[in-house]
Amino acid sequence: MIDLSTSYMGLKLKNPIIAASSGLTDSVEKVVNLAKEGIGAVVLKSLFEEQILMEVNSLKMNNMFNSYTEAENYISYYTREHNVNEYLKLIEESKKAVDIPIIASINCVSAGEWIQFAKKIESAGADAIELNMFILPSDPRMKGVDIENIYFEIISQLKNLISIPIAVKLSPYFSGMADTMVKLSDTGIGALVMFNRFYNPDIDLMSEKLTISRIFSVPEENTNNLRWIGLLSGKLNCDISSTTGIDSGQAVLKNILAGAGTVQIASVLYKHSIKYISEILEQINTWMISKNYSNINSLRGKLSASNIKHPVIYERAQFMKYYSEHN
Ligand SMILES: Cc1cc2nc3c(=O)[nH]c(=O)nc-3n(C[C@H](O)[C@H](O)[C@H](O)COP(=O)(O)O)c2cc1C
Repeated sequence: MIDLSTSYMGLKLKNPIIAASSGLTDSVEKVVNLAKEGIGAVVLKSLFEEQILMEVNSLKMNNMFNSYTEAENYISYYTREHNVNEYLKLIEESKKAVDIPIIASINCVSAGEWIQFAKKIESAGADAIELNMFILPSDPRMKGVDIENIYFEIISQLKNLISIPIAVKLSPYFSGMADTMVKLSDTGIGALVMFNRFYNPDIDLMSEKLTISRIFSVPEENTNNLRWIGLLSGKLNCDISSTTGIDSGQAVLKNILAGAGTVQIASVLYKHSIKYISEILEQINTWMISKNYSNINSLRGKLSASNIKHPVIYERAQFMKYYSEHN
């Protein structure tokens, strides 16, 4: 009997596969269906700071109200409450409908007013909160350390307000990656989610216009996760959840062997439907049986840099050997 159960930020999961925050997790019905297909936990679609601001602005632009300050204040209040209330309802109803952990998600770029929402999210029954934080370091006048301080400030304010576990979902764009990840893990968060994937720009040569590149990931994108999870596993004071490019049971196993405790998937479920969850679980089971493993936790970090004799491949980034063999 294969035991896939694990713990994530102290929450009990029947297996390490989490539905990543996306359009696949934005309604109670979808959460129920994911649970029926055997998912270990769900991260709900993010509540975006941006989304709230956009609604406020579009109402103003539609001239639904004159721009009296009082009316503007009302609109701001209404749209904020409306969004939040919908979201709180989603949490409450999802919690009632399924018995797997429900993780709320907030997209944030500053330590602003939204932090108060987190209290309501906790009261609505969310098992944890995932912070989807991305501050594009594109302003040449802003120092790296100042950007990083925003992350620490958000976490510190949130930690003072709520007591459910906090996961921090990050981009791979940190110059001092190991240092920053270790310091973040020392803030008392429950997990680092490595790494979020973003809409990236592309250029359409026919129309000579800027467009959006692939919305869904490809498996090759996961190799960057293997590097950083492999290097950092055993050095962080929190759990690691891996996301981006995980498209099969084999990919789940690789991330766990590198040191992740759980994985978060979205693209593969968009591509194959949520029915694919059972296939991923089956692939994990089959491999574990063939290798005589009975417990998924015994694999965690087995091939991390700290646990192998020659971790040089994790560090090797240049192609010296490749050039010598492929000329
Ligand atoms: C359509 C779509 C919507 C997404 N929405 C969110 C979101 O609201 N919040 C978030 O943190 N991540 C969001 N993501 C990112 C996913 O949660 C996930 O981390 C990322 O897609 C990498 O996993 P994958 O390679 O399995 O797709 C979204 C991804 C997709 C494809």
